Amino acid sequence: MLYKNFLPLALASVASAQTPSLTDALGSLNSSLSSLNALLGSNSQITDALNNLQNVTVLAPSNDALNALDGDTARLLTNSDYLQALLNYHVLNGTYYNTSFGDDSVFIPTALTNETYTNVTGGQVVEARLNDNNVTFFSALKQNASIVTPNVNFTGGTIHIINSLLVIPQNVSETLSNANLSAAEGAINTANLTDSIGNTHDITIFAPNNDAFNAIGSLVSNLTSDQLTSILGYHVINGSVNYSTQLENSTLTTVNGDDITITVVNGTVYVNSAKVTVPDILLENGVVHVIDQVLNPDNTSAAPDTTATTATPAFTDASTGTAGIPFTSGITTPTTTFPAATSAGGPAESSSSSGAAMPMKTGAVGAAALFGGAAVFVNL
Ligand SMILES: *[C@@H]1O[C@H](CO)[C@@H](O)[C@H](O)[C@H]1NC(C)=O
Ligand SMILES: *[C@@H]1O[C@H](CO)[C@@H](O)[C@H](O)[C@H]1NC(C)=O
Ligand SMILES: *[C@@H]1O[C@H](CO)[C@@H](O)[C@H](O)[C@H]1NC(C)=O
Ligand SMILES: *[C@@H]1O[C@H](CO)[C@@H](O)[C@H](O)[C@H]1NC(C)=O
Ligand SMILES: *[C@@H]1O[C@H](CO)[C@@H](O)[C@H](O)[C@H]1NC(C)=O
Ligand SMILES: *[C@@H]1O[C@H](CO)[C@@H](O)[C@H](O)[C@H]1NC(C)=O
Ligand SMILES: *[C@@H]1O[C@H](CO)[C@@H](O)[C@H](O)[C@H]1NC(C)=O
Ligand SMILES: *[C@@H]1O[C@H](CO)[C@@H](O)[C@H](O)[C@H]1NC(C)=O
Ligand SMILES: *[C@@H]1O[C@H](CO)[C@@H](O)[C@H](O)[C@H]1NC(C)=O
Ligand SMILES: *[C@@H]1O[C@H](CO)[C@@H](O)[C@H](O)[C@H]1NC(C)=O
Ligand SMILES: *[C@@H]1O[C@H](CO)[C@@H](O)[C@H](O)[C@H]1NC(C)=O
Ligand SMILES: *[C@@H]1O[C@H](CO)[C@@H](O)[C@H](O)[C@H]1NC(C)=O
Repeated sequence: MLYKNFLPLALASVASAQTPSLTDALGSLNSSLSSLNALLGSNSQITDALNNLQNVTVLAPSNDALNALDGDTARLLTNSDYLQALLNYHVLNGTYYNTSFGDDSVFIPTALTNETYTNVTGGQVVEARLNDNNVTFFSALKQNASIVTPNVNFTGGTIHIINSLLVIPQNVSETLSNANLSAAEGAINTANLTDSIGNTHDITIFAPNNDAFNAIGSLVSNLTSDQLTSILGYHVINGSVNYSTQLENSTLTTVNGDDITITVVNGTVYVNSAKVTVPDILLENGVVHVIDQVLNPDNTSAAPDTTATTATPAFTDASTGTAGIPFTSGITTPTTTFPAATSAGGPAESSSSSGAAMPMKTGAVGAAALFGGAAVFVNL
């Protein structure tokens, strides 16, 4: 009787000795996580919320990750609302040990669900996969963070220490700008679609790169407002976020009303005749895939030529214009980059003038390689 009553207690104390709370587990890693622990220690509300999480994976940024932040960004973390959102983005929904990941990308929902910061159903996601045998997470403009210490268990799941902060995905304008998709950004502005695309819940955008717009420069100056609106709408899927893992041979109905045809050949995704050159740039409200042609709603049967080295534009009678890259006049080079708080109610000092370099600094692949020589990314 007595024995029977004691047993569960004894087991409970053994269990709790083996599996610490989140705070205790992070504390036991203090030699790598003292900066994170100090941030948490200063905010009991966030700590309590984190300690209540169950069945999650916490991606804990190392001291090196936090110490690499510039002054503006570090100051941003003193904003309690922003810190909460950023930490929530580091909490994956589900317990994923480091052995859960393979060479193929998965898109995992996080605890970042606050509509001030995200407008995708089920919570903002991170992309995860093996990268040269290291488990790597990709956020926003594909900034990457790799696991340096895996599988530290706590009562609500597991912790991985990562070597860089995740970046909360930005709104459409900021993302296109920072991804050097200035012609697409300018075209959307010209058509007055910035708000309607930016405020939509769950969106997929196929964004032609600047070379694609340049290739049809002769046509662009003669487009009517209605034609431009129709063409741009033909690049947008409303109401669903189609990460690359969800793109398969099929048709998708665009905002313009016409269908696009998705063809996947050997892992390369085509949209009509255009090739996806950079997949899965994350947006506050969805995802952007960069393509190498402007899609033509009057040429919906354009099919991929998978053996061609240079694509035939879907606008067959257009040619390169003489006036420079279309739609880019008045589009400024990136000024705000990390971490997207200007559009999300963060403090004024979040707007940095340090250019696009900072968030890419920690990535294995810099902005130039990503968006200039996009081919390197196709099969990652
Ligand atoms: C972590 O280490 C710092 C000094 O590096 C110390 O001030 C702090 O109290 C430690 N925190 C925990 C939770 O052990
Ligand atoms: C969402 O974020 C805003 C701004 O940071 C904050 O004021 C609000 O309390 C948050 N909402 C929830 C439900 O946490
Ligand atoms: C944990 O979360 C994952 C992902 O949401 C889910 O598939 C799984 O069923 C959950 N497990 C438990 C024990 O709740
Ligand atoms: C996963 O973690 C274990 C240690 O717990 C390590 O031996 C293994 O190499 C890791 N695997 C990957 C893919 O990082
Ligand atoms: C995790 O996902 C489940 C559904 O899959 C949802 O009910 C739950 O609220 C999510 N948890 C967090 C912390 O977002
Ligand atoms: C993989 O992780 C190890 C240990 O952190 C690191 O030395 C190596 O540079 C990483 N490789 C890549 C490709 O990130
Ligand atoms: C955490 O739990 C998993 C699953 O039980 C186990 O594989 C892993 O070894 C544990 N981590 C440590 C550091 O013991
Ligand atoms: C955008 O709005 C301006 C001002 O309201 C208008 O002159 C212009 O025609 C509009 N452009 C399109 C493509 O609708
Ligand atoms: C999210 O979407 C709703 C409805 O589409 C919109 O009203 C709201 O402004 C959006 N929020 C953000 C942060 O974009
Ligand atoms: C615009 O259309 C007019 C009339 O069709 C044509 O003469 C002109 O060459 C076109 N402009 C360009 C830049 O193609
Ligand atoms: C998709 O279509 C292409 C072209 O018709 C074909 O080569 C490929 O095998 C198809 N993929 C699947 C999974 O059916
Ligand atoms: C797909 O890849 C295989 C092996 O690399 C190659 O033999 C085949 O021709 C490719 N198919 C197409 C349609 O490019």
